Amino acid sequence: MKLVFLCVVAWLQLQRSVQDINECKVLPNACHKDAYCYNYDGYYNCICVSGYSGNGTVCSAPEKCQAPLDLIFLLDASGSVGKGNYVKEKEFIKIVASRYDLEITNQAAVIVFSDQASNEIPLGSKKTALSFAVAVDNIPYAARSTRIDLALRMAYDEYFSTGSSNGTQKLVILLTDGIQTKRSRMTPPYIPIEGTVQLLRSKAARIFAVAIGSGVKLSEMRTVTEKDDDIFLVKEFNDLVTQADSISKTSCVDALETQGITVCSADPEMTNCNFPAHCVNTSRKHVSCVCITGFVGVSPHCEDIDECADGSHDCHVTSYCVNTAGSYNCSCNQSGYSYNGSMCVGMLP
Ligand SMILES: *[C@@H]1O[C@H](CO)[C@@H](O)[C@H](O)[C@H]1NC(C)=O
Ligand SMILES: *[C@@H]1O[C@H](CO)[C@@H](O)[C@H](O)[C@H]1NC(C)=O
Ligand SMILES: *[C@@H]1O[C@H](CO)[C@@H](O)[C@H](O)[C@H]1NC(C)=O
Ligand SMILES: *[C@@H]1O[C@H](CO)[C@@H](O)[C@H](O)[C@H]1NC(C)=O
Ligand SMILES: *[C@@H]1O[C@H](CO)[C@@H](O)[C@H](O)[C@H]1NC(C)=O
Ligand SMILES: *[C@@H]1O[C@H](CO)[C@@H](O)[C@H](O)[C@H]1NC(C)=O
Repeated sequence: MKLVFLCVVAWLQLQRSVQDINECKVLPNACHKDAYCYNYDGYYNCICVSGYSGNGTVCSAPEKCQAPLDLIFLLDASGSVGKGNYVKEKEFIKIVASRYDLEITNQAAVIVFSDQASNEIPLGSKKTALSFAVAVDNIPYAARSTRIDLALRMAYDEYFSTGSSNGTQKLVILLTDGIQTKRSRMTPPYIPIEGTVQLLRSKAARIFAVAIGSGVKLSEMRTVTEKDDDIFLVKEFNDLVTQADSISKTSCVDALETQGITVCSADPEMTNCNFPAHCVNTSRKHVSCVCITGFVGVSPHCEDIDECADGSHDCHVTSYCVNTAGSYNCSCNQSGYSYNGSMCVGMLP
């Protein structure tokens, strides 16, 4: 009797697994478009791509960059990185990418390097956050030497050497734990990093270096970046989001500025109107930088209004007017007197 029962249970289980519907394939919107879908026996699970938050049915990321900008990640797959930090590097790439719009405005590429460099994800080949994330997950770990030189050179050859950059700004983000391998006899031979960096700069590339792990040599990083501010340190997993946000905001505002694009954003760091201008929506599609109260002109040429000179101040006759940036102050001539808001009054000793 017991045996029959066990057989029936086994048969039922077999039926269930045979009949399991792969919801991820069958249901068109099983998960949010920015979520992974995992099918299991009898159920499925949705998990938002790194950089997005939500329960998988709903996923959202902070406001995306609105400037055309191409991202070229150089991913260190050398042995010294180690499996744990390799995962961190990939997380970092996905989080940075989540701050850009791969569907319309932005494109991303990943060149992986160890003792070779390989253009694993060609620029623009992945047009959704999910397809890009899956492609990043699938990049194998070579665990050999550290040929930063080859990765930089490949980035240049693939994406900068041909003349028509057509106006889209390009950002190179080097993720590494350390030190370029230099041996007298390497194949391919060493390509001086300084030279490639100069070539990249001549094509207006901005290069960021992300140092993963604790044993990083910063002087080595400094050879690829223009300034110290372009080096980002990631020691803990918790640093990933902070540093990724920092890179995406800096690069985005930079791109907005050089391309003369103004956006009004809920995030004040992304609104690229410089003081003393603020951003206003002038219509559904247009925004502009408008000089704040106390200034006249057209941004970025906002000029201070001299209220003392044009007589628009209301300082009392007992006082005199002092112009300030955006405003004015009323001061008292006689010592022992101060302005109480409407006139000069003697202060009691
Ligand atoms: C996910 O969150 C949304 C909105 O908060 C909610 O409507 C939906 O039911 C949730 N889905 C799951 C699977 O929890
Ligand atoms: C620049 O080139 C990219 C890729 O070739 C293309 O998607 C984009 O539309 C081009 N932009 C302009 C302004 O021509
Ligand atoms: C401008 O309009 C956009 C889109 O309608 C909105 O998200 C944003 O908050 C507005 N910004 C300001 C400063 O009014
Ligand atoms: C106060 O001093 C300023 C110059 O320092 C002068 O122009 C003004 O007439 C003086 N006002 C009074 C009330 O004395
Ligand atoms: C102008 O007045 C404001 C307050 O009324 C005060 O905070 C500020 O220090 C004054 N500035 C000068 C230059 O006196
Ligand atoms: C300033 O002092 C004058 C004279 O004492 C007084 O009439 C006035 O109300 C005071 N103004 C303020 C804002 O305190």
